[in-house]
Amino acid sequence: MCGIVGYVGSASSAPILIDGLRRLEYRGYDSAGLAVHGSRAIEVRRAVGKLRNLEAALAERPLDGHVGIGHTRWATHGRPSEVNAHPHVAGPIAVVHNGIIENHLELRRRLVAAGCTIASDTDTELVAHLVHLEVERGKDLESAVRAALGEVRGAYAIAVLSSREPDRIVVAKASSPLVVGLGDGENFCASDIPALLPYTKRMLFLEDGEMAVIEAGAVQVTTIAGKPVERAPRVIDWSPVMAEKAGYKHFMLKEIFEQPRALEDTLRGRLDRENGDIHGHEIGLSDADARAIDRVVLLACGTSHHAALAGRYFIEALAKVSTSVEIASEFRGRDAVIRPGDLVIAVSQSGETLDTLIAAKEAKAKGAKVLSIVNVIDSAIPRMSDATFYTHAGPEIGVASTKCFSTQVANLLMFSIWLGRRRDTLSPARAAELVEGLARLPQTMKDVLSGTRQLVANLARRYVDARDVLFLGRGLSFPIALEGALKLKEISYVHAEGYAAGEMKHGPIALIDNRVPVFVLLPKDSHHERSLSNLQEAKAREAIVIGIATEGDEQARTVSDDLVEVPDIAEELTPFLTVLPLQLYAYYVADFKGTDVDQPRNLAKTVTVE
Ligand code: AGP
Repeated sequence: MCGIVGYVGSASSAPILIDGLRRLEYRGYDSAGLAVHGSRAIEVRRAVGKLRNLEAALAERPLDGHVGIGHTRWATHGRPSEVNAHPHVAGPIAVVHNGIIENHLELRRRLVAAGCTIASDTDTELVAHLVHLEVERGKDLESAVRAALGEVRGAYAIAVLSSREPDRIVVAKASSPLVVGLGDGENFCASDIPALLPYTKRMLFLEDGEMAVIEAGAVQVTTIAGKPVERAPRVIDWSPVMAEKAGYKHFMLKEIFEQPRALEDTLRGRLDRENGDIHGHEIGLSDADARAIDRVVLLACGTSHHAALAGRYFIEALAKVSTSVEIASEFRGRDAVIRPGDLVIAVSQSGETLDTLIAAKEAKAKGAKVLSIVNVIDSAIPRMSDATFYTHAGPEIGVASTKCFSTQVANLLMFSIWLGRRRDTLSPARAAELVEGLARLPQTMKDVLSGTRQLVANLARRYVDARDVLFLGRGLSFPIALEGALKLKEISYVHAEGYAAGEMKHGPIALIDNRVPVFVLLPKDSHHERSLSNLQEAKAREAIVIGIATEGDEQARTVSDDLVEVPDIAEELTPFLTVLPLQLYAYYVADFKGTDVDQPRNLAKTVTVE
């Protein structure tokens, strides 16, 4: 996971690198470091912990120079410590790296046998030594990196400096993300777009197996094997402000409140209100393809997996196609049956989650068509997909995914409407109702956010010390129950479980007593009566019951200890509303507990390890 950044130009590099790292800190935050070409040699500063510790180190011993690289780490090999922090140095070479070198044991043995002194426990330092040995054999930096990478197996995005060539950075990529930012008389590289947004919107996306030599006035891309590559830059329409807190205490809170805007951007140009349909050209399937689909398999992890569970409900209900949802890491672990008529949909905010990426590649190799639903443009999953139906949530910085969840659910609903129309399983009138409902959704979400914020904050204050919390839902509310529990766990460290409400009586009900808050999702939908019974079952075991119900639901009011109301809306649209109070609840519990909301312990935003 980790974030890397690089700068070559005429400005002082350290502040730009630190700024870039701050925008990448969500990728990892157990240590950080910079290497900058000084007047004679490369100088390095590293510090354990958050970026502010590195800033303190720089305040004591500043770095001055126009070319540099930086890194923020999420430990894989070796514990978080200064010696394991990047950049790693060997002779004139400094390296930052995101990824995992698989043959590190073998490389370490060989390097030690060749007389190298290896200071850290990391796999990255080995790359620095490999490049150093090649430089010692007389190669220039570009050729040395090329030769060194010939010996490396695994995933990497690396940026390399040599004190003998102080005007350039050499970068290379295999499986880990890397973008090159093109400026005016200055150029950049980073793991992710937001790091570079304040400096440029013109970006070059490297493919796996490619490298680039970055100088102030030029960027040259080649394959690692040495073949020149012509790649046109893309202009990114995200604004830098989108990646800032805009007065909110945390990115997560900002992103929760950004959901109406994210939805609006995601729906824009896709709702065909005139014909009650979806403009589906990005889906990459012809009408005949749509009719020929035998089965849909959704692949995803974490929150994206919960969005996929809602997607299954939509696809089966609206398009009548048998659909399964797979946790990507589990799909990979078995020889899953995939047939050529299957459509695989990979759902991912980052487009870089390794488990999802590998699972999608496996499915493709078995003959499936792969459609992806991804937020980050040109990331790895879109690049291997047959088509990508992007969400337009903008950069999501908080480690806990919120606005991307809503936009993923929106894309899955739009896809299902599109598919249902093509397969004649969805009447034009019903499709038109859903399309109209989607068009109104951003405003309704805005109302729910402003109408429930204080109430939910009060609930969080009241139940902040609960040790266990349960979330129950049926049908479309089941993935929302799972999502409510995941949000609470990941940022507040409170034990929480999401359950299919009907499954409670098969075991988990034993957990309930008068200290356990139980959130019961019971919007007025086809499951309402049964969900109400489940609420009563919990109540009968003395649980503290918090109902998330439709406005005016008197039965829910009578049996709930606390009630959060959302407007009456079509069943398919309920998840967009009911998830909001649960996101807010998790946020406020975490904030009251004083945890690190945007960068919770042990987590990273993008999981590029297996
Ligand atoms: C969400 O809050 C999590 N941080 C995490 O579960 C995330 O959804 C998961 O790692 C998948 O990421 P992706 O959407 O980028 O593939």
